[in-house]
Amino acid sequence: MIRLSDYRAPAWRVETVELDFDLGIDASEVSARLLLRRDPAQNAPLRLDGENLQLLSITLDSRQLPATAYRYLGNVLEVDGAHDGSVLETRVRLRPAANTALEGLYLSGSREAGFLLTQCEAEGFRHITFFTDRPDVQSRYTVTLRADRARFPVLLAGGNPDGAGELEGGRHWARFVDPHPKPSYLFALVAGRLEKIERDYVTADGRAVQLKIWAEADAIDRCDYAMDALERSMRWDEQAYGRNYDLDVFHVVATHDFNMGAMENKGLNIFNAKCLLADPDSTTDDEYRHVEAVVAHEYFHNWSGNRVTCRDWFQLSLKEGLTVFREQSFSADMNSAPLKRIEDVALLRRAQFPEDAGPLAHPVRPAQYSEINNFYTATVYEKGSELVRMLAGALGKDGFRRGMDRYFERNDGRAATLEDFLAALGDANGTDLTPYLAWYGQAGTPRLSARGHYDATRHEYTLTLAQHMGGTESRPPLPIPVKLALFTHHGDMLPLHLDGQTSKSENELVLVLTQAEQDFVFTNVITSPVPSLLRGFSAPVILECDYTPDELALLLAHDVDGFNRWEAGQQLATRAYENLRDGSSTEALHAWCEALALLFNNSAIDDALLADLLTPPGEVELAERETAIDPQHIHHLRQGLQQRLAERLGTAALRQRYQALAAHTSIALDAPSQARRRLKRRVLELLHLLDNQGTCELAAAQYRNAPGMTDRLAALTVLVRGHAPQATAALRDYRERYADNALALDKWFAVQAQLPGEPALERVQRLEHDDTFTLKNPNRVQALLGAFVRGNPSGFHRIDGAGYRLLAERLITLDTLNPQVAARLATAFNGWQRLESRRREAAHAAIVKLAAHDGLSRNLTEIVGSVLNH
Ligand code: ARG
Ligand code: ZN
Repeated sequence: MIRLSDYRAPAWRVETVELDFDLGIDASEVSARLLLRRDPAQNAPLRLDGENLQLLSITLDSRQLPATAYRYLGNVLEVDGAHDGSVLETRVRLRPAANTALEGLYLSGSREAGFLLTQCEAEGFRHITFFTDRPDVQSRYTVTLRADRARFPVLLAGGNPDGAGELEGGRHWARFVDPHPKPSYLFALVAGRLEKIERDYVTADGRAVQLKIWAEADAIDRCDYAMDALERSMRWDEQAYGRNYDLDVFHVVATHDFNMGAMENKGLNIFNAKCLLADPDSTTDDEYRHVEAVVAHEYFHNWSGNRVTCRDWFQLSLKEGLTVFREQSFSADMNSAPLKRIEDVALLRRAQFPEDAGPLAHPVRPAQYSEINNFYTATVYEKGSELVRMLAGALGKDGFRRGMDRYFERNDGRAATLEDFLAALGDANGTDLTPYLAWYGQAGTPRLSARGHYDATRHEYTLTLAQHMGGTESRPPLPIPVKLALFTHHGDMLPLHLDGQTSKSENELVLVLTQAEQDFVFTNVITSPVPSLLRGFSAPVILECDYTPDELALLLAHDVDGFNRWEAGQQLATRAYENLRDGSSTEALHAWCEALALLFNNSAIDDALLADLLTPPGEVELAERETAIDPQHIHHLRQGLQQRLAERLGTAALRQRYQALAAHTSIALDAPSQARRRLKRRVLELLHLLDNQGTCELAAAQYRNAPGMTDRLAALTVLVRGHAPQATAALRDYRERYADNALALDKWFAVQAQLPGEPALERVQRLEHDDTFTLKNPNRVQALLGAFVRGNPSGFHRIDGAGYRLLAERLITLDTLNPQVAARLATAFNGWQRLESRRREAAHAAIVKLAAHDGLSRNLTEIVGSVLNH
């Protein structure tokens, strides 16, 4: 176990590193020349990380080392006799084609046609050469690549190009020098047959930069959108944060074999193809926005991550939470801000809240880990971003910019901590933000309860806010910013006068709850108000407020904060769901349907927002509120809820709306076009609940005539879910049409893996035998198994436990190939303790059996152990 409290500064640093690669598919050789610096205050022997390297030679200060002068037992190389200023040279052999873990140097694609690339974050560099592989060691890199020219015509590494030329025997070389010292996790190289698109860019501070996006020949014409997104990201970071790019070239590379979404290697970002490639025929609108966001995210890391990096991996959220926040702000500026906020909060609730409520819960800054790759989580990323958002809210737009300027200026070139971050933001604004540090150190989602009391004689409204964590231990209160407004029962906003403050009257303000419980008194409140609380989701908490259904319906109808309008609808839908579940009064159900019926006919409301308003919380979110979870029952209830809504709207109105939306057939990506497609999909799904056969005819036609992937996939999904006779033909057609398009084919797997209910398992097992299925490709695994275990609760959680057994068995095989992907998939077992008893027992048995298996990776062992032992 590695602990934050054990942190010590490195005893040895590497000032400069020269790397020489002789690249080959089966074997590559790496020579490294390290100039070492010793911390005079520490008296530790030279110890370097190195994971399963085949050591060919080793010299210290130009002398060949005898076997007695060093020790290497598979992960640490200890060398005698080194001193400050020593030069250590090693040569090792790597086996890229045999590297199925996709960490270090590996092959993407086939031996004949594929290319070589690296992935180092977090600790992959030690799979390439011996090194002080920790982020607080920053070094200057000179990298020389040598390879056969015909097989590897393109040679890339991070930094500025510094020469290239021919070698004997059809080989060639290329050299790169990175003037910016960097930690080893930001090293990267790429070599193979790749095509490129290019664009010239001039930064705001006058640097000419060549932007180059690289992909295999069959994908290069799907890179234009990413190039546009990159240019927009660069401009945005200049304007929003005053950050300029700092090398002469910026490379971006797409690969189909990648464990995560993408990686911000200095000057050479590498992307999972699904986060980079886009064209209307194979990419949905949601995926287009995702590409834009990930391109921005990786680019923004150049400052929040690379120029200012993390002292240790416990600080991971320092770069990830911050960069997600920057990325979300960018996306909000490029698209619709309220829709973006809805999407982000929905993701937080779907992915992070359950993580934080179960045995895998950890603070945004974890205190310990066994395998750091298991901590690239929704908590570190998504909750981390919410914490930055709170800080930004507390400082205001200008204050936050001032703080960020200070942060970058003070920490440029450094490996920083979260304390450094809060100190810079606070100092630049003459305020103390250290109370917010408590948010970083504790797991769990706080609950915020709100109670209002109106005194009609004094025209005073008292809002009592209280916070509490689940569980028994008492913890000091957190600062919780609560943005709010007050509405009359006619839906008008009231001016706010907070007692004891001579603030000018405003319609919206932020209260910061700093104690366990506090009263806030508003004066001159002329009528009993309905509060709109936590507007824009101003803090990542669970709000408990005993609104009446009518009050929620009022906010759903009138709140001008798009997010809170949606939020009121979500809360009302949850109550409606509970009406159905408990057989209680249908007051909420009625209020929800009536409010949405009104909005459905309100032409002033944006189509995309309407689509989201017409969607109740997902099955995962609904399950979070239950104790003895039966995912199949939840699925049926949620379907029932949507059916009531569909009935209220009526077949005729839904059909009419569908036809009106379907009259537009453009594939344009502008907001109104995307919004129409989103609503069209939603209307089709609702219609489907009323009239299976008729809707499947509409869907079959939509499938045939779809101008782009958004409409095509929406139609295919309805056909598959409806078990429509047309589904078979559509699936066959899709399969043929996209036989050569891996990303489109992934969606073919995912749609089927998400077929609700018992039949899904058999379908998944059949698809595992498809020629194109392989456990070696992370995207394909995610498309079939990931979509099944995570995207299909009613399918995965079969009462006979067959879903759990399937997952456990696949994990054992997958773990031998790719521990990172296996560990991530295994988190689907999270929450098993809260299942109803039969499922709980079946899940428990499957996990116990998995845990007992010999030789599991450290990655999978840690996840399975945590899931079991809490
Ligand atoms: N830093 C990458 C990002 O931008 C994620 C890389 C994670 N890699 C890993 N093997 N855990 O989000
Ligand atoms: Zn990141």
